[in-house]
Amino acid sequence: MPDTHWPESLRGDYAIAGADYTVVQDMARYSAADHATWRLLAARQAALLPAHAARAYRDGLAALGAGDGVPDLAAARLADGWRLVAVPGLIPERAFFTHLAEKRFPVTVWIRRPAEIDYVVEPDIFHDFQGHVPLLTQPDFAAFLARYGAAGRDAPEAHLPMLARLYWHMVEFGLIAETGGLRAYGAGILSSAAETVHATTSTAPRRLHFDLARVLRSAYEIDQMQPTYFVIRDYAQLFQALDDLPRALDAALPTIPAGAADPSDKPF
Ligand SMILES: [Fe+2]
Repeated sequence: MPDTHWPESLRGDYAIAGADYTVVQDMARYSAADHATWRLLAARQAALLPAHAARAYRDGLAALGAGDGVPDLAAARLADGWRLVAVPGLIPERAFFTHLAEKRFPVTVWIRRPAEIDYVVEPDIFHDFQGHVPLLTQPDFAAFLARYGAAGRDAPEAHLPMLARLYWHMVEFGLIAETGGLRAYGAGILSSAAETVHATTSTAPRRLHFDLARVLRSAYEIDQMQPTYFVIRDYAQLFQALDDLPRALDAALPTIPAGAADPSDKPF
C-alpha cells in the first residue's frame, strides 16, 4: 500500500529486490507450517464471507481457487492484463503507483508466524493476496486501480497524503451497497475476521455515501478498527470519481480528523 506509516524495521529481504522492488517468489521456501497458517486464515474467513463480503469479492476468490495453501502468484488469472508481482513487503509510494499504473499488483512474499494469526504489523501475503487480489478479477475495480496508480505516479509530493487516504478508505476499507445488504470489499476489512463483522454489522462506526472530496479530506488511524467507512453503489463509481480527482486534489480542503463528523456528510 502507499502508506507513509511504516514500521521502524521491515521484515522482508530488500537486498534481493530489483530496482522496481520485485523479487522472485520461491514456492519451495514455504514450509508445511506456512501452508497450514494460510489454510487456517482462509478457513476462518471463508465462514464469514457469505454474509459479509461483496459478491464480486466472493466470485473472484472462488475463481482464484487459492484455499489450499500459500498461492503461486504467477498462476492468478486477473482482469484485463493485470498480473501479480512478488515484493519483499511495503515498497515506496512511487514504485507502488508505477506498478499499479502498469497493471501489476505487488504482493508480499512472506506469511505471518502462527503467533500473529490475529494481527500482523506489516501486510503479509495473506493480506495482500486474500484481501486484494479477488477484486482484481473485477474489471471496473481493476480499471479504477490502474487509473489511481497513474494519478499517483505523476502527482506532486503535496498530493500524496490525500492519495493515500483514497487508497486507505476505498481500497483497504471500502463497503458496497448490494441488493442483499451492506457488504465489504476492502482488503483491510476482509483479511481481518474481527473487522469483517465490525465493518458491516456494528452500529458503532460512521457509514457515509462515497464522496471523493470527503474521502480525500478524511484522516485515518492504522492501529484500530475504522470509525468511518465509505459506501459505494458499484465499482464503476470509483473509476468515474477519478474524473474529478485533479480538481479535488488542487482544492486541498481542510483535513477531517479520523472518525469526526463533517457538515458535508451523507450518512448511509
Ligand atoms: Fe493492503
